[in-house]
Amino acid sequence: MKFFVDTAEVDQIAELNELGMVDGVTTNPSLIMKSGRDILEVTKEIAAMVDGPVSAEVVAIEADAMIEEGRKLATIADNIAVKVPLTWDGLKACKVLSGEGNMVNVTLCFSANQALLAAKAGATFISPFIGRLDDINLDGMELIADIRTIYDNFGFDTQILAASIRNVNHACDAARIGADVMTAPPDVIHKMAAHPLTDKGLDAFLSDWEKTGQKIL
Ligand code: G3P
Repeated sequence: MKFFVDTAEVDQIAELNELGMVDGVTTNPSLIMKSGRDILEVTKEIAAMVDGPVSAEVVAIEADAMIEEGRKLATIADNIAVKVPLTWDGLKACKVLSGEGNMVNVTLCFSANQALLAAKAGATFISPFIGRLDDINLDGMELIADIRTIYDNFGFDTQILAASIRNVNHACDAARIGADVMTAPPDVIHKMAAHPLTDKGLDAFLSDWEKTGQKIL
């Protein structure tokens, strides 16, 4: 499973990147707002730092304007994936931008039918939002499973990018179901390393080690 980091915070991306945990980055207008940075500047910095796809989102809502914005975002670096919303206009923009050789990430996907349309329109990535479905008492993970089944039934090569990952169970479940990629905030990736039995076991080892009076160095 590929790990994308869902943030526009350059320092946090750099730390995870050094550990080999970053196969790509996703941003959106809210994350750009939180970073306080200029979209073109910060996206360029991130794209230079990581080898994989860096998603940068259009903000226009009509297809022609989305296409123009997408073309501009794509000039930032070779590894930009243009992110468009899953609207009818977004699908039109996806078709044109992917036809021009750009990676396209179709975002704000909340149904399997939407994912099917995105694949037909040539999306490189489809981003189903797990957490936001769970927020309204629906099952985000069921959507990932449905999209996996549908894409596998017909051999679509659009990659399932599990998004709106809010906790470690989301990450594990998305991996088990076979999402190609997950994009998670840095703190969720950090928490994946934590286990109380690891901490407890380490405490016991260190306490016994102290009793030996030995040193390794
Ligand atoms: O990748 C999409 C993500 O940024 C949305 O997450 O937690 O705002 O639903 P969230």
